[in-house]
Amino acid sequence: MATEIISQVEAVLPASIAPEKLAERVAPRADSPVEQDKVVDEAKFVQPENPTEETKPAEETKPAEETKSAVQDKPKVLRAIDEEGGTTTATYPHYLPVWDHGEKYPPWEPFTHTEHGKGADPSFKDLLVEGSKLQHLTPTTGSEVTGVQLSKLSNAGKDQLALLVAQRKVVAFRDQDLADLPIQEALDFGGYFGRHHIHPTSGAPEGYPEIHLVYRNGGNGEFESFLANRNSSVAWHSDVTYEEQPPGTTFLIILDTPEVGGDTAFVNHVEAYNRLSPALKERLHGLTAVHSGFEQAEFSRSRDSVVRREPVKHSHPLVRTHPATGEKALFVNGGFTRSIDGLKKEESEYLLKFLVDHIGRGIDYQARVRWAPKTVVVWDNRVTSHSAIVDWVTGERRHLARITPQAERPYETPYVAEAK
Ligand SMILES: [Fe+2]
Repeated sequence: MATEIISQVEAVLPASIAPEKLAERVAPRADSPVEQDKVVDEAKFVQPENPTEETKPAEETKPAEETKSAVQDKPKVLRAIDEEGGTTTATYPHYLPVWDHGEKYPPWEPFTHTEHGKGADPSFKDLLVEGSKLQHLTPTTGSEVTGVQLSKLSNAGKDQLALLVAQRKVVAFRDQDLADLPIQEALDFGGYFGRHHIHPTSGAPEGYPEIHLVYRNGGNGEFESFLANRNSSVAWHSDVTYEEQPPGTTFLIILDTPEVGGDTAFVNHVEAYNRLSPALKERLHGLTAVHSGFEQAEFSRSRDSVVRREPVKHSHPLVRTHPATGEKALFVNGGFTRSIDGLKKEESEYLLKFLVDHIGRGIDYQARVRWAPKTVVVWDNRVTSHSAIVDWVTGERRHLARITPQAERPYETPYVAEAK
């Protein structure tokens, strides 16, 4: 559960930070002892749904000889249930993470994505069936739905789901049965929306590498230590945007949650784009930025955790167009966006910092979802970023499963001047 701390460090960049320090935070280096110590120290407490998204527990610091020996004797497969002493109070123990060091996957090949939200019936008659209720969380961002069973949707209903989520950015569905179905059935449902992503540095339920787990068992005072070492747990990011075809319609299924706390916040990148001046919008069009997974993989390796696929980086447009809605969105996130192509170092850092800060402080285009048992949250990863909120100190378990269908390669459409 560690490497996401990289983004937690970099996501909130103080205005007073010197440019050279900014660079360190945007791309923490393994040879930076201060940053590395901080990362390792905090690694136990990180929420794996954040950018580094690894769920392996941090190991205690050991003398060099002992560490060397431990590495040599390292078991090939680590199981969270063993970390808990062989028994668990997890509600869904078959979803507990397993880290298989022998599990390796080849590079992704491009695939043709079908955008199911495009052309879907905007009346949502096959999704919002009789007896269902849709409530908006804020005017622009986020909704909550009751009275709909996602696993029972027809293909028309699934198409409308993709469109609704693209429009609202994030939608929480209550009283779902996805967690209670066999894992393969949940994957079959999610696979309708795109090719399943396999996370490069994540543990997974045994036999189901496509499931990404967010897991914290909450014991041993970890939370108090976490809060003692940082001012805020907020770490805005979009998931795995370093991929050539990052995720689109994405699902998070709650398995165990604190009674109060551990919400997830989402920010609307279409609104973040809309708030910019026409002059800046026009300037951002045509620019691309590098999204990198190398720091995540490097950090996982530094902790002797799994790297299931070699890391990649890709350049994507700073402003992307959504294929179903036609909306333009800022496609930048503090987790993985490292530099803007064609700009000098200082220019890139300052512009990225502005955009990341702009996205992060826009509470007037954000929504916060409160979890409850059997909730499934669906968001469009192309037009949002999100952050877990680590604010509970009760020791309760927080355990979620993510289904992560990949979508199209991000593309942009020309800037359109606004009417005066
Ligand atoms: Fe995430």
